Parts: sequence; C-alpha cells; structure tokens
Amino acid sequence: MYTQAMDLAPKEERKAVRSAEEAVLEERFEARIDAGDFIEAKDWMPEHYRKTLVRQISQHAHSEIVGMLPEGNWITRAPTLKRKAILLAKVQDEGGHGLYLYVAAETLGTTRDQMLAALHSGKAKYSSIFNYPTLTWADIGTIGWLVDGAAIMNQVPLTRCSYAPYARAMVRICREESFHQRQGYDSLLVMMKEGTDAQREMVQDAVNRWWWPSLMMFGPPDAESPNSAQSMRWGIKRISNDTLRQKFIDACVQQAQVLGVTLPDPDLKWNDARGSYDFGPIDWAEFWRVVGGHGPCNRERLAARVKAWDDGAWVRDAALAHARKQEAKQQEAA
Ligand SMILES: [Fe+2]
Ligand SMILES: [Fe+2]
Repeated sequence: MYTQAMDLAPKEERKAVRSAEEAVLEERFEARIDAGDFIEAKDWMPEHYRKTLVRQISQHAHSEIVGMLPEGNWITRAPTLKRKAILLAKVQDEGGHGLYLYVAAETLGTTRDQMLAALHSGKAKYSSIFNYPTLTWADIGTIGWLVDGAAIMNQVPLTRCSYAPYARAMVRICREESFHQRQGYDSLLVMMKEGTDAQREMVQDAVNRWWWPSLMMFGPPDAESPNSAQSMRWGIKRISNDTLRQKFIDACVQQAQVLGVTLPDPDLKWNDARGSYDFGPIDWAEFWRVVGGHGPCNRERLAARVKAWDDGAWVRDAALAHARKQEAKQQEAA
C-alpha cells in the first residue's frame, strides 16, 4: 500500500576512496541511468544505490504488511457478505504486495530475516499512516479512497524506477491498488447516497480524520527532503513529493464533490493561475511525531507484527523440518 517514509533514512555512509576500477564502473552505471536503462539484480551498482533501494523497498514491504492490520481489524465486522469478501480480498492483496517487495529487496543481497528483524526492533520504518486507528466501518471505505488513492499516486511513477525488479513488482501492485481505491470509494458512495444520516455523518467523520494523514503520505516538502535529489538523479524517484501531493489533492476535490463530503480544509481553493487547488498548512510536527514512534497506534502495530512472527515460529520450524526430511529422502534415493 504505501511509500512515504522512503526519504526518511538515516544518513548513509559514502565511501570517500574509490578504486580506479570502481570509478570506471560507476561512470558506466551513471551513463546507463542517464540513457534510461533499467538496472537488473546481476548488474554492477554503486553501494549507495543498492543501500538506498534496500531501505526503500523494505520500508515499502513493511508498509504493506503493517497496512493489513488496521483493515484486518474490520473483517469480522463488515456489514454484509459482499463487503466482507471484498475486504478479505483486499487485505490478502496487501500481504501479496509485501511478499513481492520482500523478494525484490532480496535480489539486492539482503535477507527476509534481516528485514523483519529491523522491522521488529523498530529500526526500520513503515508508512506512518498505519499508526492511526480505524474507529468505524466508514474508515475502511475512506482508507480505500484516500490511502490507497495516495498509494497509487506514489507508486505509478515507481513502475518506471531504474531498478527493474522493483519496477516489475510495482506494475502488478498498481493494478491491484486501483481495485482497492475503487472498492473504498464505492463503499463510501453507497453510504452517502443510500445510507442514513448517521452513516453520512460517519463518512464525514472518517474523511475528517484521514484527510491530513493521507497528504502526509507523500513525505515531507521537497525543500526538507534531502535524499530526494539523489533518488531523482538515479531514476529511483521520478516525481517530487510536492508535485504528487498536489496531483492527489486536485483529483480528490472532485471526487469529494461527487460523494457529497467536505474535505476538512477551509483554505482549499481553486487557483486559476496555478491550475491547481491551493490548500492549508500541513501539520508536519504531527507527521514527525508519528514517524518518531508516538502516533496513536505505533506500539500496537509493532506488537501485533512481533506477535504474528512469534506465533508463526512453529510453522517455520515445521516447514524447515519437512524440507530437511524431503532432502534426506532424495539423497537416499539417489
Ligand atoms: Fe492497497
Ligand atoms: Fe498494497
């Protein structure tokens, strides 16, 4: 689902001294990037490029599986069989997205165990949007509309990312995200057009709570996003945080009008000269607070992931024991 924390990495160490051979390789690499070539797992790449991608793809993978938690919470409480089936499919998709992405990151020389250990220890980040609670059924529709909607905006440019295994994973993920966005919007539309006043109020309340955190999903303003410039040069990132955020806002205003909900920003106003909507100030202090571990559900989310890992230990042990047994049998037969 999400890709926001990508620029929030700790400072990478860069090698000050390069061998002559490395300098040649790096020059060739840069030329390929400039020519718009895709880089494959077996190709030579600078260490900093590799590390940047491991960080970004693993954070993205973590976001997919942590993103299952706020919605999974509503599977047993979905109002109809149809909505339950849709939500089950969506949450399952997010698990699949996590898997594609962990595998894409593994092509860069890291392991699933290393990535999960970083998540469980709190060292690795995931999208901070999932640290907000889902209070009513309307939150599920709103997450589909706004959170998956923002994810699509963020992720479509990643289908042209210079690292080919990541780009390929994103093609498939984006197709599924578009279903996620539509099912959310459809669910809200039914509540707004055919529902009761109480249901309409529930939708408005959910939109009020999710709107601003959704805008934060695009990451800090360009001027405060120091790693962005390098990622843009390397073709990992294609469009800046602020440009994507503006595109998302412009799309949402019309969708909100069709729904009949009010976006909770009194400064939202069409600007003819810019050809876009102006919007009010984003509370970046809140964003950094949540990224820093102090959002409403940070502890709960991490605890749920750690518990799932611990509870699944016997499955992993059994699978390994079975694989060893099979291997021993095959060796005997040979
Ligand atoms: Fe999604
Ligand atoms: Fe996803």
